[in-house]
Amino acid sequence: SQVQSFTVILLYMYCESLSIAHLLLKDGQFPITQNVTVVEGGTANMTCRVDYNDNTSLQWSNPAQQTLFFGDKKALRDHRIELVRATSQELTITIGDVSLSDEGLYTCSLFTMPVKTTKAFLTVLGVPARPEITGFTKPAMERDIITLTCSTSGSKPAANIRWFRNDKEVHGRKEVNATGKSFTVRSSLQFQVDRRDDGAAYTCSVEHVSLSNPYMTTEVLEVHYAPQLQIEPSLIIPQEGQYFKLECVSIGNPIPEPVLWSKDGGELPDIERMIVEGRELTITTLNKTDNGTYRCEASNHLGTSSAEYVLFVYDPNAVAPHGPDHALIGGVVAVVVFITLCLIIVLGRYLARHKGTYLTHEAKGAEDAPDADTAIINAEGNHVHAEEKKEYFI
Ligand SMILES: *[C@@H]1O[C@H](CO)[C@@H](O)[C@H](O)[C@H]1NC(C)=O
Ligand SMILES: *[C@@H]1O[C@H](CO)[C@@H](O)[C@H](O)[C@H]1NC(C)=O
Ligand SMILES: *[C@@H]1O[C@H](CO)[C@@H](O)[C@H](O)[C@H]1NC(C)=O
Repeated sequence: SQVQSFTVILLYMYCESLSIAHLLLKDGQFPITQNVTVVEGGTANMTCRVDYNDNTSLQWSNPAQQTLFFGDKKALRDHRIELVRATSQELTITIGDVSLSDEGLYTCSLFTMPVKTTKAFLTVLGVPARPEITGFTKPAMERDIITLTCSTSGSKPAANIRWFRNDKEVHGRKEVNATGKSFTVRSSLQFQVDRRDDGAAYTCSVEHVSLSNPYMTTEVLEVHYAPQLQIEPSLIIPQEGQYFKLECVSIGNPIPEPVLWSKDGGELPDIERMIVEGRELTITTLNKTDNGTYRCEASNHLGTSSAEYVLFVYDPNAVAPHGPDHALIGGVVAVVVFITLCLIIVLGRYLARHKGTYLTHEAKGAEDAPDADTAIINAEGNHVHAEEKKEYFI
């Protein structure tokens, strides 16, 4: 009977352990999945696992509740959907060439009694199209108001657009429109163009989670503007007998050409010493008869502009021979003035310090004053000295 009871106990323990195992199995027998994010056109990997399974079947179904795979059996005719692995612990499938319409909740079911399910959300990112800049017709005229618009379609979520003018960020006005499941994003820059915009590069940059590097498009502006002229002489103090050149520096778009030279409101004197070559006027040997007002003029289709230069030919005898002596005298005078100034400053500071001690005595005097008026007078005197002191320090 001892043996019998021992057997019963053993049997009981065996049964108990079985049911514990069964409970454990039941507890761990549930499907697990993860949300998936994939870029449009890419491949989504959908995995469903069951850590403790007893050969119960697994199934994947799409957001429309259509079964895709039941175990290793393909249920939906869609060549983009393929089986990767079907074991009792895992059912993995891939969806290739994913489109935005594939987005949604996918269900993995484990056919226990009752059926256990888990859901995975498939997020599909819409890749933005390369941006396009519109609204600029070359060339613009100075002071025109233009609107540059950069647009990109097909992004999901909506892409971000940034503008740069010669690499420096500028801010545009953004507009987002939904087209189907994706977005069309536009950003507009409106401004009045001026000559500094001629050749300026406006870059539109599209940033998006699906792009490792932003997409960029650049528009280089061309702005037409009236000429702007300036005469640059080759010498500051032109002297008789020297070689001298005037250059008519011109900017403008289109480049103003040709440059016309005139003297004192008339034609240039017809002398061999004077040569005009494009925007340069050369006088090979200056003569005092060359004195006068020189003018250069140029135009483009936006206007005409001119610049003037008054030539004064110095007599070399008045400037050159004693030139160095003058410079020397000038230098000596400057040094003397400098030293004198230094002396004054030093003296001034010394006096000021001296007055400073004097002041305290006076202030004491003010305290000791017999009546308020004297005190004020003393105080005023004090104030005057304080100002003097200040002046010395300047
Ligand atoms: C999965 O995605 C859905 C929908 O976007 C969300 O509600 C849920 O919290 C996500 N689950 C996890 C585990 O991230
Ligand atoms: C300047 O011109 C005058 C007349 O044209 C001429 O007599 C004179 O010699 C010239 N002076 C110099 C320095 O060339
Ligand atoms: C020309 O320059 C000389 C100095 O070289 C001056 O004496 C003379 O007055 C000037 N003439 C004119 C017309 O400006």
